Amino acid sequence: MNPDYQKTIEQALVSIRKSTQASPKVGLVLGSGLSNIVDQFQGVEIPYHEIDGYPVATVAGHKGVLKIGTETAVMAGRFHYYEGHSMDSVVLPIFLLKALGVQTVLLTNAAGGISHELNPGDLMLITDHINFLGTNPLMGPNNDSFGPRFPDMSEVYHRGLQNLALGLDPLLGRGTYLAVTGPSYETPAEIRAYRTLGADAVGMSTVPEALCARYLGMNVAGISVITNKAAGLGHASLDHGEVVETGKTAEARLAKLLLGMTREILDNPGALG
Ligand code: HPA
Repeated sequence: MNPDYQKTIEQALVSIRKSTQASPKVGLVLGSGLSNIVDQFQGVEIPYHEIDGYPVATVAGHKGVLKIGTETAVMAGRFHYYEGHSMDSVVLPIFLLKALGVQTVLLTNAAGGISHELNPGDLMLITDHINFLGTNPLMGPNNDSFGPRFPDMSEVYHRGLQNLALGLDPLLGRGTYLAVTGPSYETPAEIRAYRTLGADAVGMSTVPEALCARYLGMNVAGISVITNKAAGLGHASLDHGEVVETGKTAEARLAKLLLGMTREILDNPGALG
């Protein structure tokens, strides 16, 4: 982490405070093709380009707005390592959510299904992850006011939030998400290797954000929309347009789940355990 990172966060916060004084408790990050879910949440929309220090989201299917209401802050569009952003930039939204007062983050993404039980259009509750990015956003000097040098990651994805999600949508898949840098999709041999390692789904995001959210002491839930069978498992070659399109077929179900989870978290903050 860059030693000036605290200043970067404070500057971003100042630009947000020009639009709202709200202090929402739940933060959401919407992945590829899932940005339209932002319309289901209340608040003022702040385009990313109005947030000081924020990079611009460049990927199709990512909107690039932060919508802040009294209860929720929704990041519609995220920054990926493969876009060439530094890890500091990739995780800036998480630090910013924390600075706004957020205690629980719900992370969503599009992912390729490795488990034979996962099909395009399915939702997978992330129960654990494998960091295959070859880097970690917490590398560099540690700012002890953010979190510890060696944060524990034995339960990244909060058990109570997992139970809450399963209670609201019992047909959710469950599994381990493996993060790669991309932007190329995997080869069939890589997918076979990742299955051997214990991965159920593969994607190019979420893990840096989850690591930072835990580091900052926030509760984390992760949900993958399975947009395709991973390389070598389906019949077709992989294409980002298809990933975005399939993401949209699961949008209504995911929106319902996220709204349900958000309501419960806000109404029964003590019930998560
Ligand atoms: N691989 C990596 N990332 C992805 C995939 C995939 O198959 N589908 C959606 N995001």
